[in-house]
Amino acid sequence: MNKAFGNDDPRLSAYIGAVYAPEDAVLAEIRTRSIAAGLPDIQVAALDGRHLELLTRLLGARRAVEIGTLGGYSGVCILRGMAEGGQLHSLELAPHHAEVARESFRRAGFATRARVHVGAALEVLPGLAAEGPFDLVFIDADKKSTPEYFEWALELTRPGSVIVTDNVIRDGALIDTGNQDPTVLGGRRFHELLAADRLGDARVSATTIQTVGSKGYDGFTLALVLPA
Ligand code: SAH
Ligand code: DHB
Ligand code: MG
Repeated sequence: MNKAFGNDDPRLSAYIGAVYAPEDAVLAEIRTRSIAAGLPDIQVAALDGRHLELLTRLLGARRAVEIGTLGGYSGVCILRGMAEGGQLHSLELAPHHAEVARESFRRAGFATRARVHVGAALEVLPGLAAEGPFDLVFIDADKKSTPEYFEWALELTRPGSVIVTDNVIRDGALIDTGNQDPTVLGGRRFHELLAADRLGDARVSATTIQTVGSKGYDGFTLALVLPA
């Protein structure tokens, strides 16, 4: 699915697509090959991928971590935002997804700059400490564990780093109190963690911007890591 910008107005989506052309042939091939390989069609929207690329470039990031690789779509966006020599560690539970992603990184010209770690992220993250601190962490794996990933991201970064978290809105599921799905509860716990942080010694300065999800609107939380 080539997710539309503007939620429900196809003319606006076509206009923005024409102006920014956020998905080139390399990314389109990754999206279609991932779907053909049976991966779920849940990569970031093309323009949200552009947001990731530009944010990475704005940060001058040279070392990044991604939690949740899928077929490598968002990872390629992050790698494109990094200067020559920038390195991405991307964490993926499913070996088949990791294989598809390695091919994507190779095709995008990043074979030597992307490392895909196969395993449960909570088991892989402690081993990354020696490679840090990282300039950017993108959290986009199983949503029930998002708060735990955020705590790990704080461990692996430094003041001035940015932690981006995907799928923090879920088309309003977040505020539907009847929805007790573990993925939604993970999102609520994540926002509560940020709110508690604001009340005490803030560890981050955070905001949430709207993105285009696979079922409607969604969001990225941007969190700047503050000095202790
Ligand atoms: N960042 C990707 C989308 C990731 S989808 C993009 O936008 O292109 C979420 C991915 O997280 C899936 O591939 C899923 O297999 C993986 N995942 C789920 N649970 C995980 C875990 N515990 N550790 C690491 N990856 C996990
Ligand atoms: C879904 C969307 C995502 O961006 C993701 O990372 C995982 C799941 C979804 O819509 O189910
Ligand atoms: Mg996502």
